[in-house]
Formats: sequence, C-alpha cells, structure tokens
Amino acid sequence: MVFIRPYQESDFEACAHICRATLPPSLSTTPITAKLAPYIWTHQYTLLSPATCHMLATALAAPTSSPSRERYPSYIASVLSTAVAPPPPLPPPSSSTQEQEEPFWIPDDTTLTPSGTAPLQAKKPNPAALIRLAYDPRKLLQLTDSSNSNAPKSLSSQGWRATMHIDLLPAYQRRGWGRRLIDAYVRSVRASGEDYGRGAWIGIAPDNAGVVQFYEKVGFRLVTPSTPSAVEGEGTGGGGEDGIHMVIDIAQA
Ligand SMILES: CC(C)(COP(=O)(O)OP(=O)(O)OC[C@H]1O[C@@H](n2cnc3c(N)ncnc32)[C@H](O)[C@@H]1OP(=O)(O)O)[C@@H](O)C(=O)NCCC(=O)NCCS
Repeated sequence: MVFIRPYQESDFEACAHICRATLPPSLSTTPITAKLAPYIWTHQYTLLSPATCHMLATALAAPTSSPSRERYPSYIASVLSTAVAPPPPLPPPSSSTQEQEEPFWIPDDTTLTPSGTAPLQAKKPNPAALIRLAYDPRKLLQLTDSSNSNAPKSLSSQGWRATMHIDLLPAYQRRGWGRRLIDAYVRSVRASGEDYGRGAWIGIAPDNAGVVQFYEKVGFRLVTPSTPSAVEGEGTGGGGEDGIHMVIDIAQA
C-alpha cells in the first residue's frame, strides 16, 4: 500500500538516493554535482525541519520548509562537513563582490561541437559554486538582498519565508501523490508554529521548466525572479541566475 507518512531519521539514505535519481540532466550527468545534490536540496530540510518533511511509503517525497539561518550551522556541523569539504575562503572584497565568486554556470565540455567549441547554450552547474551555496544559507535560502536598492527584494524578504523541495521516483509520478504531498506540506507548515510569513517560495532549474505546470495546478504561481545577487547561487529548488521562481500563499493558522 502506498501512503504518506512523516519523515524519520532512518530515511536519510533513501532521501539522498531519490534526490539523485530525480535530478535534471544539468545535475545528474556529472558525478560531483550528483554527489552534492542531496546536501543542497534535501538533508538540511530533513535535519532542521523534520516535522514538515514527508515520505511516500518507501519512496521519498520530501517537501520541506525553510530551516532558519540560526539552525543552519548545526546542519553544516553534523551533516554537510562530514561529506563535503568547505569551500576555500573568498579573496578580500574589491569593487565588485560578485566577480570574486565562482560562476554558477560553466561551459559543458561534454557537449562540444565537431569543431571543438561548446554550443552557446551548453552549460552546467559549477561544483565549486554548489559547494559554496551549500555552506551559505543566506544564498541557499535567499536571505540576502542586493546592495542595489533599485533591484527587487528576494522572495524571502518579500515575505515568503518557507521553502521546499519535492521528488518522487518515476514509478510514483503522475498518480496524484505530488498534489497530496504539497497539501501535506502546506498543512504541516501551518501547524509548525514557525514564522513562515506569506508562504513558501521555490526555485526551479531552467532545464526542469516542465514542472511549472504541476506547481501551478497545486497552487503556486510564477513570480519575477528575485535579485540577481540573491539568486546567483540559486535557490533551494534549483535555478541559478536563469532559474524559475514560484510562490504559494499559505494562510496563517
Ligand atoms: C514534479 C513532481 C513532484 C509532480 O508530482 P506528481 O505526483 O507526478 O504530480 P501529480 O500526479 O500530483 O499531478 C498534479 C497535477 O499536475 C500535473 N502534472 C504533474 N506533473 C506535470 C508535468 N511535468 N507537466 C505538466 N503537468 C504535470 C498532473 O497532470 C496533475 O494535473 P490534474 O490535477 O489536472 O490531473 C514529480 O513528477 C517529480 O518528483 N518529478 C521529478 C523530480 C522533480 O522534478 N521535482 C521538482 C523539482 S523543482
């Protein structure tokens, strides 16, 4: 029988497996990004916000709410640093902070044309940037705004303070479980006692744009991307500076 149940600590490895098994091509085709993925899109939520994580029978689905900045260091200490070495320190600030960091997208050499050059659109996430993202909750959870006061505020600053991620193994997709899991997630966020503000935001990798229709059907809507500086390392659901951003309003309990 298939059913939704709360996340348990013993689901840790299953969550990692299912996160990796459902990655979009930009992340699944490189071993290092596939290894890193659950440390960016799964484990911090199940560790820091288990009450809003759910499993679908033996298959993972882990809609999760945003762990707070205050609790994030415990994720780094107990999970992330045991599997992924921290990034090197950044050089001291200069005139442009953004230029000092690794670019989020790098050319994908595996798609070289016969002439030996990468097609213009061929790019993949940069493992160094992913590691920095995993170690930086300000970016991962979009807690910071651009220093440019004309730029739009991050979605978190605009009030959608929760975030989530959902993955279903292919055998469980398109059978209504995604909708039920989002419903369970929304209910658990309302019951969490956390300050989730207006609701939840998500980021979607550009090569996974097909899922926008799913999110629209279950209550999300597309929004203008938040500030480039806040999303240069992308958001929880994926995306980078080209990522797609959506929000769902969650009424106060
Ligand atoms: C995206 C995902 C969570 C959707 O869950 P699901 O169980 O397959 O979706 P449901 O069966 O609950 O579908 C709900 C509605 O969305 C629609 N839908 C689901 N996936 C869709 C898609 N890829 N494109 C268009 N519509 C979609 C369904 O047809 C259904 O519509 P209806 O209510 O009119 O019948 C699941 O397919 C999945 O885990 N995919 C791989 C990982 C992934 O991409 N995760 C999201 C990362 S941002």
